[in-house]
Amino acid sequence: MNIPTQYSIDSPFHHNSFLIDGELTIWDGPTADVFSSIHTPNKTGVSAPTHLGSVPDMDEAHALKAVDAATNAFNKGKGEWPTMKVADRIACMERFVNLMKLQRDSVIKLLMWEIGKNLQDSEKEFDRTVDYIVDTINDYKDIDRDSAKFHNHGGVFAHIRRGPIGVVLCLGPYNYPLNETFALLIPAIIMGNTAIFKPAKHGVLLIAPLLKAFKESFPPGVVNIIFGRGRTVATPIMKTGKVDVLALIGHSSSALSLQDLHPKKSRLRLVLGLEAKNPAIIFADADLDKTVEECISGTLSFNGQRCTALKILYVHEDIKEAFLSKFTKAVDALKLGMPWENTLLTPLPEPNKPDYIQELIDDAVSKGAKVLNPRGGERTENYIFPAVLYPVTHDMRVYEEEQFGPVIPVISFSDVDTPLDDMAASMYGQQVSLFGKDVDMIGPLIDTLANLVCRVNLNSSCQRGPDVYPFTGRKNSAVSTLSVRDALRSFSIRTFVATKDNEGNKEILRELLDTHKSNFISTDYLL
Ligand code: G3H
Repeated sequence: MNIPTQYSIDSPFHHNSFLIDGELTIWDGPTADVFSSIHTPNKTGVSAPTHLGSVPDMDEAHALKAVDAATNAFNKGKGEWPTMKVADRIACMERFVNLMKLQRDSVIKLLMWEIGKNLQDSEKEFDRTVDYIVDTINDYKDIDRDSAKFHNHGGVFAHIRRGPIGVVLCLGPYNYPLNETFALLIPAIIMGNTAIFKPAKHGVLLIAPLLKAFKESFPPGVVNIIFGRGRTVATPIMKTGKVDVLALIGHSSSALSLQDLHPKKSRLRLVLGLEAKNPAIIFADADLDKTVEECISGTLSFNGQRCTALKILYVHEDIKEAFLSKFTKAVDALKLGMPWENTLLTPLPEPNKPDYIQELIDDAVSKGAKVLNPRGGERTENYIFPAVLYPVTHDMRVYEEEQFGPVIPVISFSDVDTPLDDMAASMYGQQVSLFGKDVDMIGPLIDTLANLVCRVNLNSSCQRGPDVYPFTGRKNSAVSTLSVRDALRSFSIRTFVATKDNEGNKEILRELLDTHKSNFISTDYLL
């Protein structure tokens, strides 16, 4: 294999430190090897998964140390960080983002090797995350400016701000190990919370180059980064009851089992981005070429491993033949390659994913579906070529399960109630893509769809971005809303100082403002 020198792995990278209470400590306990599903010749010259390095496989005792560090840094609301001036917290975040930018090349290279994301998308993931942090800073300034004033209603003065909630446990997914994790962590900490962050199972080494930046940017205990299995480290953290916010992007089963461990569930706030089964509904008057193009990127960018991916296509009977013929050709024309070759299809990071997708195909075929594209189901050591399955019925696993990988179930319809009824009955409700032109048809349909999901994409595939737009879902797809501004709200709570309007109180307020004795009571305008 021809690997460009700048992307080659010359020797494994053994990351051996963790960040707790502001200390980067060397881990001398057990470690977990990190492999790429990309095969290269091993020491004996045999082609095998590439050994990328190792990370600490930490234990319960260290998990508890991390939660204690976060709890102490919050210090019942008295901590340096939650009481700090907004401008000073912003300065810490600015320092962090500048240090983070220096690690761009290392993170992008590891994104390609660890999760098989192509170069262009890996670069986009890094740059989008940097933009997200910068936009978060700007939006926080805006929020702060809006609250730099007093209200006076009914004889009561009020100074209202958004305050932190407490300790946040942050767990991100493997498909966006940098972006989605930081889309939780960054708003959480900038609002004055303290956090424990455990990287995902795949996409873990790429966090290592950033540990020092966290250490150098934030006071001790504000960000604690530990490594290890979720069961070993997240479980004891939740059991302490010290976590105030569970911030997780991943599967609802993990979110549910973690919530259940919390001894005081009613005080646990949830910020969750979970599974989805976003459908495309394709009408007979849809622009065929554009629809095929959007459905290819919708179903197969990053091999369908996106919560926003199109995971089922509903095609109107009148366009079915034409659409499927063009779509299957387009699928079979896709190239599978290495991440640095920038192909749409790249190796799957989870070693068992090809077998799982194969099971879905076999199950569907045994129940009457056909694989419409000749290359559908072709296997390599780390890939299974996308199969277009038709006709798919409700009794098939691929109809019910979120495949999160390269397989495309198709259902045809003549009455739009078919997809609508399925969506209403579905466990999920994130987004939909609607393809067509007739406004008499589309208009009322949008009104219904907007009540079933949280984003209706017209003649466009589903996606999260741009990050300023609200990202959420109904039913099992999400709890809380993320976006640059919404995330700042999700990780904070409105809290205020009120006082009866009389001369004595006004005098105290004036003095508080003049002396700057309170960081909360301030009408300073952040520039
Ligand atoms: O995995 C779900 C991601 O939030 C999807 O984001 O639409 O930008 O790929 P994306």
